[in-house]
Amino acid sequence: MVEEFKLLGVSGSVREGSYNTKVLEYLRNLLPDGCRYEIFENISDIPFYDQSFESRLPERVLALRNAVQDADGLIIATPEHNASVPAALKNVLEWLSRPIGNAAIEQKPVAILGVAPGLYGTIRSQIHLRQILHSTGAFVVQKPEVYINEIARKLDQHGDLNDEVAVKHLVELIGELQRLIRQHRRLRS
Ligand SMILES: Cc1cc2nc3c(=O)[nH]c(=O)nc-3n(C[C@H](O)[C@H](O)[C@H](O)COP(=O)(O)O)c2cc1C
Repeated sequence: MVEEFKLLGVSGSVREGSYNTKVLEYLRNLLPDGCRYEIFENISDIPFYDQSFESRLPERVLALRNAVQDADGLIIATPEHNASVPAALKNVLEWLSRPIGNAAIEQKPVAILGVAPGLYGTIRSQIHLRQILHSTGAFVVQKPEVYINEIARKLDQHGDLNDEVAVKHLVELIGELQRLIRQHRRLRS
């Protein structure tokens, strides 16, 4: 029997035509049998984190929390904004990190990647993302680190990623996320 995995993609970009969102879409082509995959759309609709709403979460925040709780693992694709993660993604992580002791992201297996038009491929942004996720108690895939640079020449008009190294890294990343989910399942059983 094929082992089943429910994966949820979250793009750190709210930009229409985002490269990060396009690569999250492209991941569908790389998923092994048994993987169900959805992308949580429109993080721009998530209100700013406000602790006074923790006991009566806004509808969109509840939808986000439920989607994350329901998933076996997350795949976060982040751009780099001013050498860090975009504010919209930080906001999502604020909500997911609460309440302490019952946070949706705590002990959740997470794979990260980043896509950029520039040369450095979100290195600084992903360093910050790892640090933030560590503080939330998420279980983060350590290797491979996936930095996809110069994306404009690698992604074609059909949304296909024409770069062997990037595709190889993405396949490895998904494999490592599955491995982490399996470990997590064993821990809980
Ligand atoms: C406010 C802002 C800050 C940015 N800062 C950086 C940066 O520090 N490093 C970098 O490589 N690119 C930076 N960029 C360029 C982004 O990498 C580029 O807009 C990228 O396409 C964003 O990803 P997306 O296509 O998924 O939206 C910045 C863009 C914006 C709008």
